[in-house]
Amino acid sequence: MAKEALIEFKAVDLSFGETKVLNQIDLDLESGYFYTLLGPSGSGKSTILKLISGQLTADGGDILFEGERINDLPAEKRRVNTVFQNYSLFPNMNVYDNVAFGPRLKGRPEAEIEAKVKEMLALVKLSGYENRGIAELSGGQQQRIAIARALANDPELLLLDESLSALDYQLRKNMQHELRQIQKRLGITFVFVTHDQEEALAMSDWIFVMNDGVIQQKGSPEDIYDEPINHFVADFIGESNIVRGIMKRDYLVHFVGKDFENVDAGMRPNEPVEVVLRPEDLDLTTPEAGKLVVTIQDQSFRGDYYEVTAQDDDLNLWQVQVTNPVTTGARVGLTFDPEDIHIMRFNESEDDFEARLEAYEEDPEVVGNAAVQSAAAEEQA
Ligand SMILES: Nc1ncnc2c1ncn2[C@@H]1O[C@H](COP(=O)(O)OP(=O)(O)OP(=O)(O)O)[C@@H](O)[C@H]1O
Ligand SMILES: [Mg+2]
Repeated sequence: MAKEALIEFKAVDLSFGETKVLNQIDLDLESGYFYTLLGPSGSGKSTILKLISGQLTADGGDILFEGERINDLPAEKRRVNTVFQNYSLFPNMNVYDNVAFGPRLKGRPEAEIEAKVKEMLALVKLSGYENRGIAELSGGQQQRIAIARALANDPELLLLDESLSALDYQLRKNMQHELRQIQKRLGITFVFVTHDQEEALAMSDWIFVMNDGVIQQKGSPEDIYDEPINHFVADFIGESNIVRGIMKRDYLVHFVGKDFENVDAGMRPNEPVEVVLRPEDLDLTTPEAGKLVVTIQDQSFRGDYYEVTAQDDDLNLWQVQVTNPVTTGARVGLTFDPEDIHIMRFNESEDDFEARLEAYEEDPEVVGNAAVQSAAAEEQA
């Protein structure tokens, strides 16, 4: 039998008044992994955490914990703890009492509590801080105490809502690493929420990319980065060049007026697609050696590379990362390898496509899209 999920969402819906904020959410969280919910503001990330912790109740669907439906189980009966962005530590208690809070509520003997606090402070590298007041801690230290306090409850699941976003860049990097270490050491499941794609890629075993209350894609960081499933994901994760094209046949894609060999197969002939090329996969060369010829418009220095903006003759803009500076206004060649061309199904509805095709057949100047052109040519033949 397949391993039972720790948390499972089945077609979960949630609305606030008229507004649907979660739409048919399916989630499957196994024990022992670091999961991240990644998405823009308002996409529903915190709402999912609140459903897991029991602060909110779903309108429809099932939420299961180790196979048992917990939709109506009160928050305090769930073995789940949350670390919030503002940490919500008790300001009038010292570090020790903050971390001891959960075990004390459960009525554990003081000797056991003391050992637990000691263990947790060691885990977050703040041994010896027992008697400090919360106001005497830096933001990063408060963050660690909030994590220690949550973990002192022995949760099976730790939820972290934008927990690092208040920290400065360097501290944030360090905490990303440490959180990951803590998760690995304890082997419990973490669900981390962020809108920072770099953070998600750096920390996670699995990422759920969210937009508009819908999970757009679930995958490993590599999957999500290398094989974005749609325009939203490609655009949100890393920088992308996205142009429209058609898969003429297996291993041959057409975009910007030319055919290119690629590594994708299995679509119907002349299927409209979107083509993704990552800036770091592109290179500049001489116009003769280039697969496309472009004009340099702009460049900006980014520390270890230059981010160049160039325009092709169809007026598409291309972001390219190069190690040496270039000359604005220069005509250069753009190159890339077949395996760097990522293909996404273009999810234009049949009706929209038909409408565009009709308009094109009436006046080819109006909508000269490659997919439409090829469909029109097929009809003629
Ligand atoms: N109590 C509430 N009443 C009404 N609408 C709410 C409530 N809580 C959240 N919403 C709405 O639900 C949507 C999802 O909110 P949620 O807090 O889950 O977003 P989020 O992805 O966590 O965003 P952020 O990155 O800004 O924290 C938003 O449009 C928000 O305005
Ligand atoms: Mg939120």
